[in-house]
Amino acid sequence: MMLKLNSFTATDNKTVPTHIIRRRSAISHHYELFYREPLNPVHAEGAWITDANGRKYLDAYNNVVSVGHGNQRVIDAMATQAKTICTHTRYINDELCRLSERLAAKHAGYNDWRSIFTCSGSEANDLAMRIAMQFTGGNGFIVTDHAYHGLTALTQAITTSMAGYLELSRRLGLEVVVIPSPVGKGEGDSFIENLRGAIYEMQSKGMRLAGGIFDSFFTSDGLGLTPKGFLEEAVTLLHDNDALYIADEVQPGFGRSGSYFWGFQTHGADPDIITMGKPMGNGYPMAAIMFKALLDDYIMDSYFNTFGGNNVAVAVGHAVLDEIEERNLLENARIQGDKLFLALDQLKKSYVNISSIRGSGMSIAVDVVTDDGAPNAEGALRIVEAMKQRGVIISTSGLMGNTLKIRPLLIYTNEETTFFIEQIQSAVRTVF
Ligand SMILES: Cc1ncc(COP(=O)(O)O)c(C=O)c1O
Repeated sequence: MMLKLNSFTATDNKTVPTHIIRRRSAISHHYELFYREPLNPVHAEGAWITDANGRKYLDAYNNVVSVGHGNQRVIDAMATQAKTICTHTRYINDELCRLSERLAAKHAGYNDWRSIFTCSGSEANDLAMRIAMQFTGGNGFIVTDHAYHGLTALTQAITTSMAGYLELSRRLGLEVVVIPSPVGKGEGDSFIENLRGAIYEMQSKGMRLAGGIFDSFFTSDGLGLTPKGFLEEAVTLLHDNDALYIADEVQPGFGRSGSYFWGFQTHGADPDIITMGKPMGNGYPMAAIMFKALLDDYIMDSYFNTFGGNNVAVAVGHAVLDEIEERNLLENARIQGDKLFLALDQLKKSYVNISSIRGSGMSIAVDVVTDDGAPNAEGALRIVEAMKQRGVIISTSGLMGNTLKIRPLLIYTNEETTFFIEQIQSAVRTVF
């Protein structure tokens, strides 16, 4: 399962350090730790994390702080607003409306869209699912086979990358049909065929479809981006069958693609509901859902979220957008992402064990295979460990666990990009 791919287990170490023993007794065993020798980060600035021993690591994994660890503008906005007033959405707050308008303006067709602010991507997806169920009268959802959509009851029931989702979906009375992700074999055209098949399966079993929910980049599935445009067809297909299209932008949103603000824009697709989170607050817990105005009538009763959309969240949300816009971070992500992609593509040409590079901007996947071309999860993990030894943080993902998950921050400089490239070349050379 996804979170266990690059995780610490006690058997990895002869003696278990005291802070891990303490962790085990203090917090739930269901919290995972990355790496065979877990990291103890104590400070971070820009794109760099420092551990308790003073060792620095280039962060090429953490997609929340995408405008930089300790971003000064975000911190100032947070502190100034906290000192001024922090209440909730039941009082007038023009800045809250302005944030919603700014987000809607990120795509031409969105002037009649509305937002609801939450604290996590899970809450946003949960609400999106409930709107889709109310609107369609259905309880069926189509998802891909290694997706991650959250950990509320509803969202965990469609999170196929974690064990137990089917059992949970049955208990909740949801109908979940799983299709192959558009990574590798399920790519592009066959994705649409699989989606058509899933809709047919639901209808022939008498199930009523509420919607398709997809991460626009299929990030946890291992990043499926090609051919451009296939999601537009998916939206049409769902609409033709009276279902909604929910674009989970929790990972691809906020400029990660380097070309567009939202991931689905790379496909020219027009979803009915967009959910967002992670980089939205650069570490401040905030997320949101945006939807077509007509769907506003399908939310049960009033909506209130104690922390979602509070004044501090709103101030932080504006600061993050200011950073992205004023520092041209989309363009930076595209330029630095292209350099990374090119260098990785060179590696692929030199090593049979690197079979595929997929990516857009600061979201890149590298498939690692055996000499015979079979998925090589162990090889991928060895590269992750070798990168850590060289001072770079990445991880793995994908159905077979053999995909390197590389998500650099949008603020990378030329020097940081070059450092990453040198280290991955050296890591792959050592492992293969
Ligand atoms: C695509 C996607 N959707 C939803 C979520 C859930 O977001 P959160 O952890 O903020 O609840 C995640 C978290 O990793 C995610 O990657």
